Amino acid sequence: MAALADEEPAPVDQHKLSRMIQNREATKAFLEAFSAGDELTEFSFDAARGVGANIGEGRRFTRIPRADLADLSEWASHFPKREGGANATSCIACHNAPIANGAGDVAMNVLVDPAHTGDATRYLERNTLPLFALGIPQRLAEEISTDLYQQRDAAHQVACTSGRASVQLESKGVDYGTLTLKRASQDPCSVDTDSSGLSGIDPDLVIKPFGWKGNHATIRGFTRNAAHNELGLQAVELVGDQDGDFDGVVNELTVGDVTALTVYMAALERPVTKIELADLGLIDLSGSERTDILAGEALFAQTGCASCHTPEMSLRDTTFKEPSEIPGFYDARFPDGSDPNTHGLTVASAITFNLAGDQPNNSIELLDGSIHHLGAMRQNTEGEPVARWYTDFKRHDMGSDLADPDDPLGLGASMFLTRSLAGVGATGPWLHDGRATTLQEAIVSHAGDASDSATAYSHLSESEQTKIVAFLENLTIYKAVEE
Ligand code: HEC
Ligand code: HEC
Repeated sequence: MAALADEEPAPVDQHKLSRMIQNREATKAFLEAFSAGDELTEFSFDAARGVGANIGEGRRFTRIPRADLADLSEWASHFPKREGGANATSCIACHNAPIANGAGDVAMNVLVDPAHTGDATRYLERNTLPLFALGIPQRLAEEISTDLYQQRDAAHQVACTSGRASVQLESKGVDYGTLTLKRASQDPCSVDTDSSGLSGIDPDLVIKPFGWKGNHATIRGFTRNAAHNELGLQAVELVGDQDGDFDGVVNELTVGDVTALTVYMAALERPVTKIELADLGLIDLSGSERTDILAGEALFAQTGCASCHTPEMSLRDTTFKEPSEIPGFYDARFPDGSDPNTHGLTVASAITFNLAGDQPNNSIELLDGSIHHLGAMRQNTEGEPVARWYTDFKRHDMGSDLADPDDPLGLGASMFLTRSLAGVGATGPWLHDGRATTLQEAIVSHAGDASDSATAYSHLSESEQTKIVAFLENLTIYKAVEE
């Protein structure tokens, strides 16, 4: 699927993709969106296409938030309100470690100032996250939220009949805290909801699997923000036909472009394990390395790591859809106020693919010449497709040392989403600002809600700690070598 990155990608036409779906060419539409997304993430855009923004002082890019440049059309006047950047001319300028679409070195860290404080001591620093198989966390989040909505609605019924209800929210083996509902009036019934007992999630019960802070529900939502803040490419669905970054260019990314980027990242190769690769004959792994990894996996659970980094979750429905039909995971209206349907983005013509099936980038040739698809999700002992994503999709207090210097989103300065460990062996440096140069450093930085686990880790013998690290290094990223 390698795209030549030297020719400017033609704008993707969402209506054309939708027509393909209506003509029962679902696979063709998926592949076309995937390959357009591939080009869009790799391409280095130029000013004529609208990359960058009018920062002020005649500049187009800035790595430092510039709330001080606040005259008409300058950094602080852009809409939607700029958080940082514009930083780069392509997505893979940052997302490139260890391979394209991956994480990033600290040199690519992003500084953001969402509250426009202009105070460098309050800027948030973020290390680049990897983009592999993002359909998996979104689909898991959709199913968890669906479960929680049902549990809330059932409690609502009970509160209407008996005056009060309390429900312990649970999905995929994870406890999301309690909701307490009290009837406020009858005929029609209305209910007051006390959300203070929720654990690690928002009162809307929408699981938000993206961003270090866990504050974005969908790949699409994150992507149009990234395009605006990082590249200064303003999507039509964000600003309509306006020039919100005053660079003289409108219509910088079409609805179809954002769909293509979304589908591409959703369907990128699934992070794998060294054991899996060794079993396929793709890498060498000695018997003792294998034993250490397995011992490390057991210690990972015993040390309490798995209480947040939930190793495995199954999916009832492995079909990824863009747009999704799960409330909280699609745009009823785009941020610019327009109706997605009028742009051709409809549930009836959603681009779909099977997360448990084969992915375009995962087709590899084994030593015996046979073709193997790494794309398939693994199956558990009951034969259900499982994702090994190593997160509970909750935010946790990580203690004051890891806390952000400011809390512009009101989520808690020390609160972070349990970081997925899928591929973690290959995505360093680690932690939200990239401060950890080794996995060991990342682990011992855990505090707050993770204090018990971090203490248990520090009490392990050196050889036991090495085994946990070997287990984490086993979680890696593999790219089929292209001819
Ligand atoms: C200047 C560096 C930089 C550029 C350029 C960049 N990103 Fe990112 N990306 C980041 C950082 C840093 C994060 C983590 C941000 C956070 O959590 O606040 C991130 C996170 C993401 C995520 C969320 C992943 C997850 O699992 O939570 C997505 C999706 C994403 N980027 C897509 C893109 C796309 C698409 C582009 C190009 C349009 C792009 N990025 C360009 C630095 C960059
Ligand atoms: C209370 C929940 C919790 C527990 C328990 C926990 N973690 Fe974490 N872990 C997190 C959160 C949240 C982050 C992200 C923190 C940040 O970036 O500041 C994280 C980040 C990590 C990272 C860095 C990931 C990356 O991509 O940068 C590693 C490695 C890690 N944890 C391993 C472990 C190990 C090993 C244990 C057990 C000794 C453990 N964790 C226990 C919540 C937890």
